[in-house]
Amino acid sequence: MRYDYLINFLVYLCLFISCSLCQALDNWPAASNPLDVAMRAQRDVAKSVSITQLTNLGITSSGSIFEKEGYTTSALGTLLTALAVGIRTVYIDLYWNEFTREWQLCPAPFPSNASSNSLSVQEVTWKGRKHNCEGAMTVQSLMTTFVNYFESTNTNLEVNLMTMLLRLNSISVSDVSMSNTSASANIYKNPPIKNLGNSTLDECISPISKYLYKPTNMQESSTSGGVSTKTSVSDFYNRTSGDFPTLDTFMLQDYNRIIASVVENNLKESKNSYNISANDKKKIFLSSENFDSEIASSSNSSVLSSCQVLLEDTKSNNSDSFIDIAEETRFRYIIDNDQNSFTNETLRDFLRCGYSPILNASSYVTHGDKRTGTFSAIVNNFLPQSLWLWNPNDLTGENSVLLGYLSENSTDKHIAFRCVALSQDGGIIKNCYDKYHYACKNEEIPLNWKVDDKNQLAYLDATDEDACPKGYSLGTPSSSNELLSLMNYLHSENIDFPVWIDLNDITVNDCFVTGGPYATCPYQKTVSTGKLVGLIAPSFVVCVVILFLLVLEKFFRVNPIQTNRKRYWRKRINEYYKVHNYEGVPS
Ligand SMILES: *[C@@H]1O[C@H](CO)[C@@H](O)[C@H](O)[C@H]1NC(C)=O
Ligand SMILES: *[C@@H]1O[C@H](CO)[C@@H](O)[C@H](O)[C@H]1NC(C)=O
Ligand SMILES: *[C@@H]1O[C@H](CO)[C@@H](O)[C@H](O)[C@H]1NC(C)=O
Ligand SMILES: *[C@@H]1O[C@H](CO)[C@@H](O)[C@H](O)[C@H]1NC(C)=O
Ligand SMILES: *[C@@H]1O[C@H](CO)[C@@H](O)[C@H](O)[C@H]1NC(C)=O
Ligand SMILES: *[C@@H]1O[C@H](CO)[C@@H](O)[C@H](O)[C@H]1NC(C)=O
Ligand SMILES: *[C@@H]1O[C@H](CO)[C@@H](O)[C@H](O)[C@H]1NC(C)=O
Ligand SMILES: *[C@@H]1O[C@H](CO)[C@@H](O)[C@H](O)[C@H]1NC(C)=O
Ligand SMILES: *[C@@H]1O[C@H](CO)[C@@H](O)[C@H](O)[C@H]1NC(C)=O
Ligand SMILES: *[C@@H]1O[C@H](CO)[C@@H](O)[C@H](O)[C@H]1NC(C)=O
Repeated sequence: MRYDYLINFLVYLCLFISCSLCQALDNWPAASNPLDVAMRAQRDVAKSVSITQLTNLGITSSGSIFEKEGYTTSALGTLLTALAVGIRTVYIDLYWNEFTREWQLCPAPFPSNASSNSLSVQEVTWKGRKHNCEGAMTVQSLMTTFVNYFESTNTNLEVNLMTMLLRLNSISVSDVSMSNTSASANIYKNPPIKNLGNSTLDECISPISKYLYKPTNMQESSTSGGVSTKTSVSDFYNRTSGDFPTLDTFMLQDYNRIIASVVENNLKESKNSYNISANDKKKIFLSSENFDSEIASSSNSSVLSSCQVLLEDTKSNNSDSFIDIAEETRFRYIIDNDQNSFTNETLRDFLRCGYSPILNASSYVTHGDKRTGTFSAIVNNFLPQSLWLWNPNDLTGENSVLLGYLSENSTDKHIAFRCVALSQDGGIIKNCYDKYHYACKNEEIPLNWKVDDKNQLAYLDATDEDACPKGYSLGTPSSSNELLSLMNYLHSENIDFPVWIDLNDITVNDCFVTGGPYATCPYQKTVSTGKLVGLIAPSFVVCVVILFLLVLEKFFRVNPIQTNRKRYWRKRINEYYKVHNYEGVPS
């Protein structure tokens, strides 16, 4: 059969591409496929939710990367890896250099006696602080890193929403005296390196322009929202998201990838200062005008205590506080620092309270009391914790059920373990024949839940008419806010965990879908031989899924699971593992 040759060839091409990437990523979680699968499932359940309600993990580019590695083009490799493994929010400090009237990333200006080699990393001093900066590390090169990431993940399987938060600072002429050089301001006016940056914000972010959701897009979508008579969950977010779209509209209908906003403007007023122009405002949101946002600090005790109140609100089954949060069209972030750095528990608590945590401390207690400072160790530690939908203990380590899929030991006895139930710590994979309570979601208000405390059913009975009361149906939490509303309800009613939620990958391995046991994997449609080359993406799971789907489509459309063909693939993959001594998941 000729297809066999073609598919064989593609498998090896695919493995080659993904494994050359695995090596580049070294001990990053990108190599551990369960996280990719878990992240995609979480993205997919959140499609109906307004983008203002999404919660994910972020970093500050300076605190997490540049202050440690230098403001250098090689540090952009670290940033690219961070994006590839799942960092979704990046907080960036931009500096307006009043001497050159250009935007730069380095917090210090280059003096005239600096080296003229734009590729040399030089120590520059400003306001008594030393920084390692490279002339070629411009704001544009940072933006190009984002473009590289977007281009390599522009497939239905991998797209996601990225947020860029900008803080504007000045390198002010009036600060020369504080820089403690005896020299005058003149030495900063003509640095020997040319092209240190662009002179407007608009030019700075021009590389990502094509992928940007702009304030002008917002006006377009807001006019299309009409009055609807029949209400449903998607209407709830259509109604409450203000002028912002739902995730599905954002990424899969309008093909946007990123939203950029100035969240803090520390520009000094002076005759050399920068004025945000009308052109800038066409592309970039401003927190003072059209981007309602809360950027809390982990040191702010009032944020912490109001989150505690929300987490412990398990006495009443009142969902009002969650509805309030869902109805706010506000982007919410929390940034830590060296005094109050996140722990697994606080990071997860803030996520459940609806904040996206942004890592900024220089070190964390990551394994017990051992202080680990490397950026990859930090991301490896917090990424599983940031997936609010899942129990992090089920994603990594020996007990990971998701992990089982690709290993030799996942024989047919695991096949029934493809349905997701909610434990106290998040989603876990359970045997679909097990009997638990159903989490029944209100069809109009997604923050109202009902669970029948007597009736326990198998997941496979989801189509049973009596499974949920009228107006409710077996549901999945679509945001961390919805998850907390469900958790609190379960606690208030003293319902035993686990509880079935509507999520399974019965039809296609690793393709988690909602809609009961017969729901099909939506990515089947997108795969055809012609499109395959364009779809090959730098992720092993994606490769496997695509090829698996391709095979399904060609040969086994009817009954995908019980075929020898799947074992054939597994065997092929395992042979490959053996030859290359490649372990699917680093410990
Ligand atoms: C530039 O000159 C200042 C003094 O004016 C000196 O402190 C600094 O080391 C010089 N930098 C280089 C790269 O020579
Ligand atoms: C500036 O230099 C003087 C001595 O040269 C030193 O005593 C002072 O601490 C320095 N100030 C800063 C902010 O570095
Ligand atoms: C922005 O700066 C880069 C070099 O840093 C340059 O190539 C590009 O042309 C500039 N863009 C504009 C619009 O000036
Ligand atoms: C929600 O709004 C978007 C556009 O704003 C529209 O495409 C979609 O059909 C709406 N969904 C419902 C259920 O009304
Ligand atoms: C910025 O705007 C202010 C008034 O709005 C003006 O006085 C100032 O000269 C402007 N600065 C620049 C650099 O254009
Ligand atoms: C703490 O957070 C609250 C709510 O976000 C805010 O109103 C308050 O100003 C913050 N306090 C400080 C000191 O930043
Ligand atoms: C929860 O609300 C229902 C009505 O919606 C009420 O009958 C029940 O007693 C409440 N339970 C608690 C613990 O407040
Ligand atoms: C990150 O931490 C550093 C030092 O702790 C602090 O100076 C900086 O302002 C923080 N960044 C943000 C965005 O809060
Ligand atoms: C935090 O979570 C990670 C997994 O996300 C785990 O490896 C680590 O041991 C946890 N740290 C602590 C102190 O429990
Ligand atoms: C499969 O499981 C057995 C015992 O459960 C273990 O000894 C063996 O090493 C496992 N094989 C692989 C490839 O993980």
